[in-house]
Amino acid sequence: MTVYRQGLLKSPMAFLKVAFGLLITVSLAHPGLGFGWGFGGAPSYGLFPQFYQFSCPQADDIVMSVLDKAIAKEPRMAASLLRLHFHDCFVQGCDASVLLDDSATIASEKNALPNRNSIRGFEVIDEIKAKLEEACPQTVSCADILAMAARGSTVLSGGPSWELPLGRRDSKIASLSAANNNIPPPNSTLQNLIALFQRQGLDEVDLVALSGGHTIGVARCATFKQRLYNQNGNNLPDETLERSYYYGLKSVCPKSGGDNNISPLDFGSPVKFDNLYFKLILWGKGLLNSDQVLLTGNVGNTMELVKAFAEDGNLFFEQFAKSMIKMGNINPLTGFNGEVRKNCRLVN
Ligand code: HEM
Ligand SMILES: *[C@@H]1O[C@H](CO)[C@@H](O)[C@H](O)[C@H]1NC(C)=O
Repeated sequence: MTVYRQGLLKSPMAFLKVAFGLLITVSLAHPGLGFGWGFGGAPSYGLFPQFYQFSCPQADDIVMSVLDKAIAKEPRMAASLLRLHFHDCFVQGCDASVLLDDSATIASEKNALPNRNSIRGFEVIDEIKAKLEEACPQTVSCADILAMAARGSTVLSGGPSWELPLGRRDSKIASLSAANNNIPPPNSTLQNLIALFQRQGLDEVDLVALSGGHTIGVARCATFKQRLYNQNGNNLPDETLERSYYYGLKSVCPKSGGDNNISPLDFGSPVKFDNLYFKLILWGKGLLNSDQVLLTGNVGNTMELVKAFAEDGNLFFEQFAKSMIKMGNINPLTGFNGEVRKNCRLVN
């Protein structure tokens, strides 16, 4: 059992608990319940890769087949899905709260400032969910679908893979205010970025590695315009912007209007998951303020980390995988908490 590799077994007691969970699981053929609960009913085992081994062994294959088609049709979709998992995990933990639509009881996070007119990929998640409901009714959570879609999108874009802990359940609530307050804005200072990641239990290494997600995808003019025309309230551009890159961006993003025009976050290889993002930052060609300050922000060790990841793509891939697992572990609902939604947009 590779369960042991996940560091779940810290004591002989923990071993007994897992062994017990395994027995229940096999006898009920329902790992979702068997693993999540031990003696005393504390849902303390967290997530583990084999969660759907018996209840829906084909889950990841189904996810990958839908992703394959969606990303072949539109390569950017990989980026959009990777980002969706991030915006889920930073708000109430990785509980698919980001997927809930407005309703009588839900103020959708989709209307939060960092999300509105920005996050996308919901139709692909819906398609994955529909296929999973057909194959394994009410078994695979929307929160796990987001985590699998983020990993699959990374892999299909040429990035690293990782053994993905599963077993998240879906929230029955959303938080518009937490979406507004917890997701870092693109004009964040480095201090601010570090603080917002720290709030989630993520450190500077995670911040820099996960920012490497910007090796794929695009951003709207509205998210980097401040850098071009009025970086510090003095009507001057951000002086850390490399000159020719600055002129190129101005042609995409005029001083007035054009807010929805887009520019690649990594213009050298916008659909390939690689470490060019970090090299661009070294060259003054990071798109967002939050990208460039990782080098220039002058707090902690982020500058050294940018240099290390620019130098060594394997190091970046390894750390990205580790930090994705860490981000994916933020405050999940497990055991009998939450639910497995039938439709990712609605509570059951
Ligand atoms: C460090 C703080 C971060 C900030 C300030 C930030 C900000 C942004 C902004 C402003 C955009 C463009 C949105 C738009 O134009 O509407 C964006 C796009 C994106 N972000 Fe981040 N982000 C951060 C961290 C992350 C992390 C941790 C990930 C994933 C690991 C991520 C993945 C992405 C991806 C893939 C896109 C492109 C999406 C697409 O093309 O649809 N970002 N980000
Ligand atoms: C970031 O942008 C917001 C909205 O435009 C603005 O209110 C805020 O002052 C900016 N923050 C910084 C640090 O420039």
